[in-house]
Amino acid sequence: MLAQLRDLEREGLEAARAGGDAGALEALRTEYLGRKGRLTGILRRLGELGAEEKPVVGAEANRVKEALGALLDERAASFASAADAGPRIDLSLPGRRRWEGGVHPVTLVIDEICDIFRDLGFSRVAGPEVETVEYNFSKLNTPLDHPAADMHDTFYLSDGVVLRTHTSPVQAHVMENHAPPVRVVVPGMAYRRDPFDASHAPAFAQVEGLAVDEGITFADFKATISEFVRRFFGADAKTRFRPSFFPFTEPSAEVDVSCRICRGAGCSACKHTGWMEIMGSGMVHPSVFTNVGYDPEKYTGYAFGMGPARIAMQRYGLPDIRLLYESDMRFLRQFV
Ligand code: PHE
Repeated sequence: MLAQLRDLEREGLEAARAGGDAGALEALRTEYLGRKGRLTGILRRLGELGAEEKPVVGAEANRVKEALGALLDERAASFASAADAGPRIDLSLPGRRRWEGGVHPVTLVIDEICDIFRDLGFSRVAGPEVETVEYNFSKLNTPLDHPAADMHDTFYLSDGVVLRTHTSPVQAHVMENHAPPVRVVVPGMAYRRDPFDASHAPAFAQVEGLAVDEGITFADFKATISEFVRRFFGADAKTRFRPSFFPFTEPSAEVDVSCRICRGAGCSACKHTGWMEIMGSGMVHPSVFTNVGYDPEKYTGYAFGMGPARIAMQRYGLPDIRLLYESDMRFLRQFV
């Protein structure tokens, strides 16, 4: 029986050293030391022994039980402490994304427009958003009984003071402060009492343009704008000039670009015309020159005003202008 105990000890210790995880060690403990285990199986036959042998075998059985039990405890503890040690990494957890800011799509478009015009010789300037009626309307040859000056379109802050309804008053500021030649682009916000719907907003960005010198003609304007359209929208983009009316330009024109979404075939974005209006424009009215102290006999020039939000909608295929105002990160993140 002593030999059986030693065999059991040797096998047990070997198996315990090889046990690969806590579960395997627990199974060994049951197999060797459990109530119905191998050690109990041997000790059951203790009664067969004589009075002298019994205590010897009993002591040896206790020694084997303790030795094997100790090794199993030690091995199990090493697994537990390995599991506790160090960072627990759950590889199935989704990663944490770093929060990134981005440039608003309208700002992207404004910067790109101004960059193109800088290459064409235009400086970038700014003007006040709170204007007098004089600059917003009168200097621009717009009588106060013109529909544009109506209370329904204009935010009046007080008598004679308004939120500018367009960036055109900056034309007057620039010409009053600089002698010709003048070539500027003026990005900025404008305000109108329009209902907020899919294609209108009460506060919106504009980019004004103005070029004045001796001998500037409508042909210069057409060439400059066509070049701008090719650079901004691509070489295949077509430009169309349509007669229009503004009090501060004569003649006046609206500029259309072949729809970027349907490539001119007609779609809901261009109301099935194949064209998208991108700006109002024209040759600066002689009265405006007189109002700012330029000699209308000597100087000519062109001016234009475009809506970068509309252009952003065309460029990015946006169905609703309100997307540009809602600060929804799921939308804005696309423009990082
Ligand atoms: N100010 C005009 C508008 O807001 C656009 C425009 C600018 C037209 C310059 C002609 C010349 O509609």
